[in-house]
Amino acid sequence: MRHVTTDGPLAAHTLARGDGTPLVLLPGFPIDARVWVDVVRHLPVGRTVIAVDPPGLGRSPDGEAVAHALGAGPEPSLETSADAVAATVRAAGLDRVVVAGLSMGGYVAMALVERHPDLVAGLALVDTRSTPDDDPGRANRLRVADAVLASGDLTELAGTPAMQLSPVSIDTRPELVEQVLAWIGDQRPSGVAWSQRAMGARPDRTRVLAGFRAPAVVVVGDQDRITPVPTAEHMMDVLPDAELVVVPGAGHLAVIEDPGTVAGALQRLLERVDRGTAA
Ligand code: MLT
Repeated sequence: MRHVTTDGPLAAHTLARGDGTPLVLLPGFPIDARVWVDVVRHLPVGRTVIAVDPPGLGRSPDGEAVAHALGAGPEPSLETSADAVAATVRAAGLDRVVVAGLSMGGYVAMALVERHPDLVAGLALVDTRSTPDDDPGRANRLRVADAVLASGDLTELAGTPAMQLSPVSIDTRPELVEQVLAWIGDQRPSGVAWSQRAMGARPDRTRVLAGFRAPAVVVVGDQDRITPVPTAEHMMDVLPDAELVVVPGAGHLAVIEDPGTVAGALQRLLERVDRGTAA
């Protein structure tokens, strides 16, 4: 990917440059900024777009180092991720942006709205949820974190594409399965463990969404088994100004299964934000 900077605490990939409200893209777990590239290819040119690698994933430093740089506590947390995204965006010279978060990136985007509301002019929540884990889900994350650190490899995550892609994608698009496996294979066990622990500790942020008055869009694959359509509808119930986009045939990774539809949803959001900014 073009033009990676580490001026802030996280690696930021500038995917496009231009006018209008800039777009900041936050990837899902356990992938990095590359998961957004197909969507950006479908966006009209002429807007600044930055994709940020999460702590410990892609080209970003380990979560512990990010927390240390920010003066945050040692426990993995999405609050640290959100503060790091805010510092990275500001280091890129941006002070008001549209944020699009895929799954874990959506959890971070909601923490960003809570902790840095001045930064967020619009919000896209893609295949994500505002509610926390249940106890078995949290316990499983801690088990996975321990397992990847003990083994030093990511075989624990071999089943991820089968969960994240829709059944039709798995049956008919083997290149997507290969792509997801390759992206996962590039990650560091330390970053996977840090992310799992941070996600397991996240609180319910439904009320944060209820207070978010700027334009929003909620995008969900109609075959998403990790954050299914009712979780998207739950967020729609509380967001004051949101569009719902259900992507037919897509699973949890609508961003690569149907990047054109996701880009269309983002473009409409960006236009709503730009209109409001110009008014
Ligand atoms: C993701 O895609 O980021 C993950 O599925 C999120 C999660 O594990 O909750």
